[in-house]
Amino acid sequence: QVFKLEDYRPSDYLIPKTELTFSLSKEATRVTTVLTIERRKGVDAGTALALDGDELKLVGVSIDGKALGAADYSATPDQLTVFAPPQSFQLTIETEVDPSTNSTLMGLYRSSNVYCTQCEAEGFRRITYFLDRPDILSVYTVRIEADRTEAPLLLSNGNPVQHGNLGEGRHFAVWHDPFPKPSYLFALVAGSLGKVADEFTTLSGRKVELGIYVEHGKEALAGYAMDALKRSMKWDEEKFGREYDLDVFNIVAVSDFNMGAMENKGLNIFNDKYVLADEQTATDADFANIEAIIAHEYFHNWTGNRITCRDWFQLCLKEGLTVYRDHEFSADQRSRPVKRIAEVRTLRAHQFPEDQGPLAHPVRPRRYREINNFYTATVYEKGSEVVRMIRTILGTEVFRAGMDLYFERHDGEAATIDDFLKVFEDVSGRDLSQFALWYHQAGTPNVTVSSSYDQSARAFTLEIEQSLAPTPSESRKRLMHIPLAFGLVGADGKDLPYDGVEGATVENSVIHLRKRHQSVRFTGIAERPVLSLNRGFSAPITLSLEQKPEDLIFLAGNDRDAFSRWQAFNTLLTDALISGFRNILGGKQPEFGEHLQGLAGRIAADTSLEPAFRALALTLPGESDIARDIGKGIDPDAILAARHACASTIAAANEQGFRYLYEELRDSEPFQPDADGAGRRALRNVLLDYLALLPGGADLAASHFDNATNMTDRAAALTVLAQRHSDSAQADKALKHFEKQYSTDALVMDKWFIIQAGVPGPRALETVRALTEHPAFSIGNPNRVRALIGTFAGANQTGFHRADGESYRFFADIVLKVEKRNPQVAARLATAMRSWRSLEPVRQDKARDALVSILKQEKLSADLKDIVERTLA
Ligand code: ARG
Ligand code: ZN
Repeated sequence: QVFKLEDYRPSDYLIPKTELTFSLSKEATRVTTVLTIERRKGVDAGTALALDGDELKLVGVSIDGKALGAADYSATPDQLTVFAPPQSFQLTIETEVDPSTNSTLMGLYRSSNVYCTQCEAEGFRRITYFLDRPDILSVYTVRIEADRTEAPLLLSNGNPVQHGNLGEGRHFAVWHDPFPKPSYLFALVAGSLGKVADEFTTLSGRKVELGIYVEHGKEALAGYAMDALKRSMKWDEEKFGREYDLDVFNIVAVSDFNMGAMENKGLNIFNDKYVLADEQTATDADFANIEAIIAHEYFHNWTGNRITCRDWFQLCLKEGLTVYRDHEFSADQRSRPVKRIAEVRTLRAHQFPEDQGPLAHPVRPRRYREINNFYTATVYEKGSEVVRMIRTILGTEVFRAGMDLYFERHDGEAATIDDFLKVFEDVSGRDLSQFALWYHQAGTPNVTVSSSYDQSARAFTLEIEQSLAPTPSESRKRLMHIPLAFGLVGADGKDLPYDGVEGATVENSVIHLRKRHQSVRFTGIAERPVLSLNRGFSAPITLSLEQKPEDLIFLAGNDRDAFSRWQAFNTLLTDALISGFRNILGGKQPEFGEHLQGLAGRIAADTSLEPAFRALALTLPGESDIARDIGKGIDPDAILAARHACASTIAAANEQGFRYLYEELRDSEPFQPDADGAGRRALRNVLLDYLALLPGGADLAASHFDNATNMTDRAAALTVLAQRHSDSAQADKALKHFEKQYSTDALVMDKWFIIQAGVPGPRALETVRALTEHPAFSIGNPNRVRALIGTFAGANQTGFHRADGESYRFFADIVLKVEKRNPQVAARLATAMRSWRSLEPVRQDKARDALVSILKQEKLSADLKDIVERTLA
């Protein structure tokens, strides 16, 4: 079934009130649902009411206390239809669900003896029959009954109102959420968990009790998450004027979770990987993720919950905007330029390939078969970039005024992207209809630029052209409004002033590109400038700009925009790597110019730059980054060889300087998970990665491993050993040591799986195959599957894209195995095949065969079928 945006229409019935009673038991939980239902004005009497279900077992149904006769309704596992209900009534539904065998992790399920729920997008219908769509807002009261020993803790949305004993070892709790909400925000948790308690007083003086619930004994690992939560609450008040609105805010960490986390009203449920951390078990990247995701889910309270989505086509209304908000939060908590570079790297690594391949879709899609497959980098990350562009175009103050208006105008509503754009049009008086194409057209625009300087006229001219290749969603594209932040950099490194511009609107150092071709002429330019374009990555585009290496070197060293400095150096590296790749394919040795080696050395040693920035700059584009930029005819082995040669050249040329810095950066202070500490560790670990390529490298990495006092350094050293010295005794020893030390810590063992799944070369397949039998691996746990299989397929270019196609065959088998339990996780895994058409022909054929073999499977889930069919189309 295909769902279409244009088919949206309001429901015939409304559900202003929902009362749920759960009588929890492992295999047979009874759910009694009392819905207060009203027919919408204008809808004909006699119109049937059709409620959504999914694999439900109906026990009883009545209206206003009277059981319905067989002629009054029909029920299947997927739907409950009441043929001719009255105008307003109470519908009581009794269903029975089995949480213990629910391996889909949607609806009510059990994770490590804890009852928990996941309802977004369409999991609520696995609990009871309902109008399970986000525009049905209802006030929920939830009563939970359970065995007191099995589940001393009973949580749901909103505020606690009552609890007590039921006798026979059972007890109950009642929760009431005064804010009308869609069913996807419903949540329930019951079990025995440890609690970390704190409190927060909002700007207007409301005292909020905060709780983070984790497995007993892990309370100490939740401290950082709690701190991040309090900082998020404060930040949203300061930056967006948004206060929290309930008496309690609870977070529960569970170990089986399909995604990162979920923003259920007042009761966020998290993948434990994004809650639990200390320096011995979590890396700096883990800490940063926890901070960002805690913030993200908290920020949803306003952008998502108070204002929700009319339908799932509007998913980016809450997700893109909330990602934008969490990005801004992290930028304020950490280093803004470093955060921006990291965002762009993520966008290019995950969203660009999606946008440029068969799974491309607009930020606001118009069609879907399975909504779970649209929780994508495009909806989230590009969605955030679009919000960011609105701010760039309107300026910070007008943007904030627009956000204020959005909260004021749409609070309590299920809104659309059009509503969102309208508030910005209203506060700015601008027409954003061309800009809106960023939501409606898929694909990454390309902007081609050439420039010329006319000394005698003191004029600098840019010839700019935009293009957008066809995608599965639209074959013909319209012209976009692209905001390009820029600077004309003079020899002293400062931006040159100009006295006139023709050919484009230029405001606040942003060129507004709106036509296919624009010739933009700046006058009054005293000297030949070096062009710095798309500063801060103001638009999510690819840029074709011929720049002389000298100019890029100059920008890398002098641009006042830190992002552009990073970009300039990254462009130099990418160009060198691509030409190295071509050399290798042509049977020649790759060559890397001395300018790169020198620049790398200078950046590493430049103490005027933050260590984290230097670390990012020195990190070579990854194999998949290089593959993406090459675009077609990909032979991953040649890319790996080019990258290895480039790294070795840089290491050899800078040995002394790198060794000196590596020693100097040794941390003597106690561990802090903050940006500064993380930045120093990142730089030192990047240097280790280079030094490991030199004689004695394995010993250096081994001693780094042995002397590590935190997980960041330990995991970095282990990665270097496994990737750079996979056959060494040192690697072997370290891997064994790590395994032994952490065998009972599943989240740390994930790192061990990730590191091994990422070891380049054809032997990775056998390693990964063997690891699927490891006692710490479990095909039913999404984190384990993503660590081992997701890393292998998504991040191990040479191992996964083996020319003999063996890895694809292994992958197809395992995807089908995962699918039997959990279609959503399987479908997500399968997206690793999305760029198969950019491979060289031999690999392409094998990849296609593997995809086709998946489709041949009987009873394929809608989730996996949708991904594989679109990937092949
Ligand atoms: N709304 C959650 C978040 O981004 C994601 C939940 C998606 N879950 C799913 N089953 N598709 O914060
Ligand atoms: Zn979200």
